[in-house]
This record gives sequence, C-alpha cells and structure tokens, in this order.
Amino acid sequence: MKNVILYYSRTGKTRFLAEKLQQELGGDLVEIRDLKKRKGPFGFLRGVRDAHLGLNTEVAPSGFDISKYELIILGTPVWASSPTPALNTFLQTCNLMNKKVILFVTSRGAGYRQAIDILKGKVEAKGGKVVGVGSVKTWLRGKKYLFRAGIELAKLWKTV
Ligand SMILES: Cc1cc2nc3c(=O)[nH]c(=O)nc-3n(C[C@H](O)[C@H](O)[C@H](O)COP(=O)(O)O)c2cc1C
Repeated sequence: MKNVILYYSRTGKTRFLAEKLQQELGGDLVEIRDLKKRKGPFGFLRGVRDAHLGLNTEVAPSGFDISKYELIILGTPVWASSPTPALNTFLQTCNLMNKKVILFVTSRGAGYRQAIDILKGKVEAKGGKVVGVGSVKTWLRGKKYLFRAGIELAKLWKTV
C-alpha cells in the first residue's frame, strides 16, 4: 500500500517521530512548513492563540497532492489542546475521500485527547476514515524514548 507521512514540527520532536515511523513503515515523508514566524516568546504566544482559534496559516508545500496515496499518516504537536495551524491548513485544502488516515500527536501530555478529537472531526469532514491514532508525550523525554515510541506505533500500524 502506498502511504505518505505528512507532519508539522516546530522544535523537532514530531519530526523525529515521523522519521522513525517512515523507517519502520516505508512510504514518503513530507514536512509541512509553517511560513509564519513561530519562534521566540511572541511566536509561541501567537501559536497558542492561532491554534486555540483553529486558524489556518500559510504553508509550504501548499496543495500537496495526496491522490496517489491510500494511507495518509498525519503528525502534529498539540498546541493549546488543538492541532497546529499548519495541520488545519492541510486538512482544509486536501481531499481525503476514501483515504485511510492515521493521526499522531506529540505533546507535554495535556489536551491531546481534545486535539485528536478535533483532528478526527476534520478528517471525517473531508471524507477520510481514521484507522489509527497515536499520542506521544515528549515532556522531559529524549530521543531514545521517541525512537522506541516510533517502533511501538509502527508495529500497531503495519497491519492497517
Ligand atoms: C504554541 C504551543 C502550544 C502548546 N500547547 C500545548 C498543550 O496545550 N498541551 C501540551 O501538552 N503541550 C503543548 N505544547 C507542547 C508541544 O505540544 C510539545 O512540546 C510537542 O512535542 C512539540 O513538538 P515539536 O517539537 O514537533 O514542535 C505546546 C507547544 C507550543 C509551541
């Protein structure tokens, strides 16, 4: 089955996990970059506000074509108990009709259920079917932990 892992990452944790998942599951890996400044204290605060309000942002690549993939794996950090603006933009512009979708989030451990529920709603509104969900806590956890989490999640999703 042809799959793609699309992810947004501000500080690298979701990227690390996405890369590990690709090693385990194969397929293509695409980083969705947010073209708004998200660094520094103001970038952080704008991120909290934009995510809380469910806003979109400008992303690159924009309009990534997912038509050739059967399974779409989407990863995002949790911001303000919500998905990131970059994922909001992707989910607004893509067509997921008849696609299987796996969602994974990274967070400090708060609000991830709400973020996953919001993501699920957006995927279903676009005609996609959520066939797997994963949540990884990153607070005070290093790469070894993320590495193992990637292996464990991939085991669950190999048969999807
Ligand atoms: C703007 C912003 C808001 C955040 N909000 C939450 C939150 O509501 N709950 C939580 O557990 N972690 C929150 N975090 C922490 C990130 O979700 C967590 O550090 C994540 O693993 C970072 O992923 P990344 O390195 O791929 O950017 C927030 C981080 C940022 C930058």
